[in-house]
Amino acid sequence: MSVGAFRISPISPTHGTLLMPSSSTSTFGTFVRETVSNLIAPFRKEYKNWPWTEIAVVSVACVGSYTIYKLSPVLYQRFYMYSTAQYVSEYNKVLRAHKEKLFSQLETIKSSNSAKLNVVEIGVGSGANFPFYPRDIIEVVGVDPNREWESYLTDTLKKNRHVTCPELLVGNAENISVIRESQVDAVVSTLTLSCVKDVDQVCQEVRRILKPGGLFLYLENIRSENIIIALIQALFTPFYKLFYGMSLIRSIPENIERAKFTEFSQQLFYANGITFLMAPHVVGIAKK
Ligand SMILES: C[S@@+](CC[C@H](N)C(=O)[O-])C[C@H]1O[C@@H](n2cnc3c(N)ncnc32)[C@H](O)[C@@H]1O
Repeated sequence: MSVGAFRISPISPTHGTLLMPSSSTSTFGTFVRETVSNLIAPFRKEYKNWPWTEIAVVSVACVGSYTIYKLSPVLYQRFYMYSTAQYVSEYNKVLRAHKEKLFSQLETIKSSNSAKLNVVEIGVGSGANFPFYPRDIIEVVGVDPNREWESYLTDTLKKNRHVTCPELLVGNAENISVIRESQVDAVVSTLTLSCVKDVDQVCQEVRRILKPGGLFLYLENIRSENIIIALIQALFTPFYKLFYGMSLIRSIPENIERAKFTEFSQQLFYANGITFLMAPHVVGIAKK
């Protein structure tokens, strides 16, 4: 049986003594409501058309990820690795020409014992650079604090049989004391100097382990020279730090200048095709 539309009496807290235990709370509550209402009044109209649904979804995703990160670091690491590995293939497509040119430098080094070149890759991750290493002359020792990368590395090695990776050193590039001084033909770093804790310290370690004449090859995202973009990068850096362990505002070319390599050449460029926050890049070669 339909009863049709009908009115109900308005449910107002002011009608219920249970919800309002005292008149002083009521006055205070009204005061707070009015103050907040007055404060946001000028913005109500302006922000009416904002994509609030999308903002809510992103906020829930951020808070959810942060909760996972706090409650289960292992789950967070898996999320981090999965999303980084997905990003890598896109990144490699966009940066292919730069990577090919950079890694071709390895063919210019002559190994003293004319056997394989000893290369150390810091922040080796999933082995994203293995396809770019020259054929059959490379033995790469990976350095990475995240040991969970091992399974990804094994997969990448299966697809890139020209590279051998005898060791994955689990630890920070700031301290690679297990490698003795002047042992290595080349050190490689891509998207890693923006993730380490102390770039200057890493550069010192790189210089220490390189043989005289050995090369440091790097390709890194950096702080933009455009002040507006740099400001936006600064705003987003806490999020990138939280989710990707990465800073967007490092002046890596200056770290290289300070590191006292015998010579270096570096070029700043804008990587079109990736998010503008990470697009400012430096590619360079430094020699011990
Ligand atoms: C953005 S990923 C880049 C991975 C890979 N180099 C690439 O180009 O795809 C940064 C990598 O640096 C590693 N990393 C973070 N802090 C580090 C540190 N202090 N020393 C060495 N690697 C570090 C992370 O575990 C991660 O594998």
